[in-house]
Amino acid sequence: MASTSKRTIFFTGATGYVGGTVLTRLIDHPTFANSEITLLIRPSKKDKISALHSLGLNTVLGSYNDLDILEEQASKADIVFSVADADNLAATGQQPLLIHTWKGVLVDDAKGLYPTDVIYDDLNPDQIDALAITQLAQEYKENYVKAYIILPPTIYALAKTRFVGLGLQNPRSLQIPQLIRAGLLKGQGGMVGKGENVWPNVHIDDIADLYIIVYENALSGKAGHGREGFYFGENGEHKLYDLSKVVAQELYNVGRGKSPEPAPFTEEDYKRPENFGLEFLGTNARCLARRARALGWKPKYTTEDAFKSIKPEVEYAIQSGNY
Ligand SMILES: NC(=O)c1ccc[n+]([C@@H]2O[C@H](COP(=O)([O-])OP(=O)(O)OC[C@H]3O[C@@H](n4cnc5c(N)ncnc54)[C@H](OP(=O)(O)O)[C@@H]3O)[C@@H](O)[C@H]2O)c1
Repeated sequence: MASTSKRTIFFTGATGYVGGTVLTRLIDHPTFANSEITLLIRPSKKDKISALHSLGLNTVLGSYNDLDILEEQASKADIVFSVADADNLAATGQQPLLIHTWKGVLVDDAKGLYPTDVIYDDLNPDQIDALAITQLAQEYKENYVKAYIILPPTIYALAKTRFVGLGLQNPRSLQIPQLIRAGLLKGQGGMVGKGENVWPNVHIDDIADLYIIVYENALSGKAGHGREGFYFGENGEHKLYDLSKVVAQELYNVGRGKSPEPAPFTEEDYKRPENFGLEFLGTNARCLARRARALGWKPKYTTEDAFKSIKPEVEYAIQSGNY
């Protein structure tokens, strides 16, 4: 434990879509008054630092490449929120709480051609154990940290937090903006293969609530951790075809698509550097978020809201010219 009487939190990914939204919740949380939050900020974002300090946050400049900084900060922290892009936070030997974001561990190689019947259940540790073991998984097994691993699926909707208003965080998610970008570049909404594959989805506000539920229950000792500490975050699922269909329709409506029907992406589309990782949208990754619900998580938004979120995303991409 750190020596200060305030609870110390080390937070990575604060300028990101998920991290900025979760951090906004933490600032508004009753525990904030008794917390000392330090953010890892990459040097390219140092212009954000004075605004972050004025919100009562501390910062340290660095990235996941700076293992000495990670080790020092993690060793001073009671809680680490890891919402950036990494699988290997330095172990401290002091068993802090680690609330860590994981990605892409459930995916298969469907290439958009078929759905899957495999559904991962986060209340089934034997099934989770069968997933690829990363360094972090080794660490939780060896009990260096009390680890709470959050595995979000397709997170959707533009973030509308105070951080977005202040220009401190990325307002956009990954998969739907990627589909829109590929469609705008192609001049036609597209899909991977036949779009037969299935992904779960969750609204950005609901997934932020999930992080806070896990945080609160980790503090009170009620949340499972380690082998019992994997938290999926879905509230419904969609076929990629259905998502691609709405994107194609919206692009068509604004004169940026030839047809309202999505066309399969071609080799040429996949080769464009702007479309890096596009094939990933053809995978399956089905899961049930039962563990967070058992702690009281009550997501409000449904798959229908995921489809409705696409129109404003298309407008944002076109108006900002940033896609
Ligand atoms: N959005 C989704 O649908 C989704 C779903 C499942 C999992 N995830 C995972 O959740 C994490 C956050 O996603 P996001 O949508 O919030 O992404 P994002 O908007 O791109 O944010 C990424 C955050 O991580 C920081 N970061 C990236 N690389 C870093 C590094 N090497 N060292 C230190 N900080 C680094 C970024 O800092 P800068 O501002 O300096 O770039 C930013 O604060 C990612 O690992 C993502 O793969 C996202």
